[in-house]
Amino acid sequence: MENKKKKFKILRYRPETDDAPHYETYEVSYRHETSILDALNEIRDTQAPDLSYRSSCRMAVCGSCAMMINGVPHLACKTFVRDYEKVDIITLEPLENFPIERDLVCDISDMVEKIERVKPYIIPIDKAKPLTEDFVQSPRQLEKYRQFAQCINCGCCYAACPQYKLNKEFIGPAALTLLYRYNHDNRDAGTPQRLEILNQDSGAWGCTMVGYCSDVCPKLVDPTSAIQLGKGASAFDYIKHFFKKNK
Ligand code: SF4
Ligand code: SF4
Ligand code: FES
Repeated sequence: MENKKKKFKILRYRPETDDAPHYETYEVSYRHETSILDALNEIRDTQAPDLSYRSSCRMAVCGSCAMMINGVPHLACKTFVRDYEKVDIITLEPLENFPIERDLVCDISDMVEKIERVKPYIIPIDKAKPLTEDFVQSPRQLEKYRQFAQCINCGCCYAACPQYKLNKEFIGPAALTLLYRYNHDNRDAGTPQRLEILNQDSGAWGCTMVGYCSDVCPKLVDPTSAIQLGKGASAFDYIKHFFKKNK
């Protein structure tokens, strides 16, 4: 068994005792397969029993272990200590752009509210006849949105987004991605409702296409492309209404 060691500088904040967040340093042994989440579990089990962080699936599915790792948003379960062999210390902080709740746990309720706002579910075309077995979706229809359906709501894209940092009214990358995903599902009839959100300054037009959200997305969802396509749909909607009004 290898006996390499790595230092971790972890942002600690316990609101019941701490006036402000501060850093504490720990050291753990690691092996080739040790993830950042494994290292955190080791630190909690052996050195800091009150250390708070979120995790569940340990396989990049639930999205709960997202955090800043050396200043970049990542999933702790999908990131390995070996990837930081060349650095002396790994810094762990809660996701940027969200309020800190405790240690590495932040409050992502603003993102959740924004995702809910775009109605991320199928609004049936015929309410009296919801999705029945005779409502078939072909592989080609699925391909129209499949990539954008891979979002696990981890929040890495919000932590990376400079526009969300500046303006919390901006609905943000994951919400806009899910908006696009449902608007391009052939079983859905919610496009007019979602276009109202997409067309606003706080919708697709609030994005300056920096693209960092796509760089950090652990599921390769590519929110930047979804937003770009959304801008196209929004512009088309504007032109349609313009000609309708001036007929
Ligand atoms: S788009 Fe990617 S980074 Fe953003 S919440 Fe979804 S999975 Fe996470
Ligand atoms: S492309 Fe848009 S949503 Fe993505 S990080 Fe840049 S400004 Fe934010
Ligand atoms: S623990 Fe579920 S994504 Fe990391």
